[in-house]
Amino acid sequence: MNDHTSEAAARPHAAPAGATDTPQTTEAILAADARHRSGLWSPDVVFVRGEGARLFDADGREYLDCMAGIAVASVGHANPRLARALAEQAQRLIVAPQNLGNDVRTRFTDELFELVKPPLNRVFYSNSGAEANEAALKWARVATGRRGFVAVRHGFSGRSMGVLPLTWEPKYREPFGPFEPDVRFVTLGDARELEAAVDDTTAAVLLEPIQGEGGIRPASDDYLRLARELTRERGALLVFDEIQTGVGRTGTFLASEPSGVSADIVTLAKGLGGGVPIGATLMTDAVAAAMPAGGHGTTFGGNPLSAAAGLAVLEEIQERDLLSAAKRLGERLMSGLRAAGGSAVREVRGRGLLVGVETAVPAGPVIQALRDAGVLTIAGGGDTIRYLPPLVISEAEVDEVVARSAAVFARFT
Ligand SMILES: Cc1ncc(COP(=O)(O)O)c(C=O)c1O
Repeated sequence: MNDHTSEAAARPHAAPAGATDTPQTTEAILAADARHRSGLWSPDVVFVRGEGARLFDADGREYLDCMAGIAVASVGHANPRLARALAEQAQRLIVAPQNLGNDVRTRFTDELFELVKPPLNRVFYSNSGAEANEAALKWARVATGRRGFVAVRHGFSGRSMGVLPLTWEPKYREPFGPFEPDVRFVTLGDARELEAAVDDTTAAVLLEPIQGEGGIRPASDDYLRLARELTRERGALLVFDEIQTGVGRTGTFLASEPSGVSADIVTLAKGLGGGVPIGATLMTDAVAAAMPAGGHGTTFGGNPLSAAAGLAVLEEIQERDLLSAAKRLGERLMSGLRAAGGSAVREVRGRGLLVGVETAVPAGPVIQALRDAGVLTIAGGGDTIRYLPPLVISEAEVDEVVARSAAVFARFT
């Protein structure tokens, strides 16, 4: 293992052949970047290469990646199977929209429905999580003939105008209103509130089985069952947003599986393409049948390149048994972080490799210190630090994450 603090830190990154002739430092790249960036972000690190659960910045420093592009790099960086699948598909066919058939998309879809069980049986492909959720809302409205949605406080559904009304955090939502949809927010786990919110105007209840952005907050199996019963009884649809929790991250392909509750619609994105943009709205036959032909669409969704990526991800998950790995390594990570936390950590919670560390001190400086120590993490709701490494992280790397985190937590006790 390379030492994060070694002399490599001083070595400028040698760019891959063909990328540029001169090695570029972080400083040079960020100075060039600043000329045109939108202003939404001010990065101070530049990543140029990855390998499995490791990232390397432009100055040659190595990081253990527990962010994975926010649960995206499911099968790791520079995954050989994924890279090969993309290269081969790029040389065969990139363009074939969903109104035309495509061999690789069909193979990918068959594989997907080996892992996702009936009654989910149909899929619409898009390019992102927000688009997958937007499609879910449109299908829910046409399938029920109703307008209303029930969403959960601290839930995150995406940032496009169609799903923003269902995203809880006011800072994401309020500057862009007013919104037309009828959305009722309920408190996660509050049965009475849910019963009161679902009525004959409700098209769908949308919820994450474990809130990601909201700070790794699981819905109990009882709550998921209640949502299922109420929606069925009152003619509404149940939508599980598994954009962050799905594709094996929690140790089962869908995080909702252990509850035994099956939704009418499940949305996926993030880890499904291993980094290649793809969204998927999975639904039952009955829901799919409600949409008139041509009632929804997208130019790029499900293009052969993203389908080839998705197929490689699913093969990798199955052949390397990454579901068991996520379970086993998640337990190891959580117990390690619990032992390491000291008084800086209030709680470690999660399932599989979807892990939240709630700190007793402001999380921002801890995240920064972790990064300085070569562990890349991300905030997630209040003072919670999310650890979302690629599912291919090794046991030794998990132990290294824990050791580096322990040294950082000790400085905040
Ligand atoms: C649960 C959930 N839903 C939806 C989204 C939106 O996905 P995207 O950023 O791909 O639009 C996210 C992204 O973080 C998410 O975590």
